[in-house]
Amino acid sequence: MQKDMKQILLTEDEIKQKVKALGKQVTIDYKGKDIFVIGVLKGSIVFLADLIREVELPVQFDFMAVSSYGSSTQSTGAVKILKDLDASIEGKHVLIVEDIIDTGLTLKYLIKNLASRKPESIKVCTLLNKPSRRKVDLKVDYNGFDIPDEFVVGYGLDYAEKYRNFSHIGVLKPEIYQ
Ligand code: IMP
Ligand code: MG
Repeated sequence: MQKDMKQILLTEDEIKQKVKALGKQVTIDYKGKDIFVIGVLKGSIVFLADLIREVELPVQFDFMAVSSYGSSTQSTGAVKILKDLDASIEGKHVLIVEDIIDTGLTLKYLIKNLASRKPESIKVCTLLNKPSRRKVDLKVDYNGFDIPDEFVVGYGLDYAEKYRNFSHIGVLKPEIYQ
């Protein structure tokens, strides 16, 4: 997979250190509470699996799938729920876990939708953030890395469903998707 990368942006080790730090901060901030983690499929699953093991509090989790990118690299802005939560989140401390926030359109929609279900609180944790691409105003409570406006893959993130199992996060060579 490495041969398809123009550059390795974040190594497995750098990611590991960051996930540890995020987990520690979550543990401090939510002390005495139970957390209900919601992973946004499919990109967040690798991050979520590592993050929850760095949190020393009771954690439940579930997943939602929303449509956003299809197999292209440009956001359409259209958001549709493809898979919903199995149970109610009323009264729960919800932590949304994302792989990357790009335009923010997906998350904006999700937060609004989840807020209407009366959770006790909602916070957002993302591994990657592309601030220069933001189209809507969003509060990001936990942010792993700000990255430049380049299409990245690995550690859960895909291009056309590929590279999710790459251990580092890399920038794909443009000829791969052009
Ligand atoms: P947003 O609605 O534009 O914030 O899109 C967020 C979603 O787009 C993420 O959860 C990813 O699935 C996808 N996405 C955005 N940028 C990238 C990228 O650089 N690589 C892979 N997926 C991306
Ligand atoms: Mg995603």
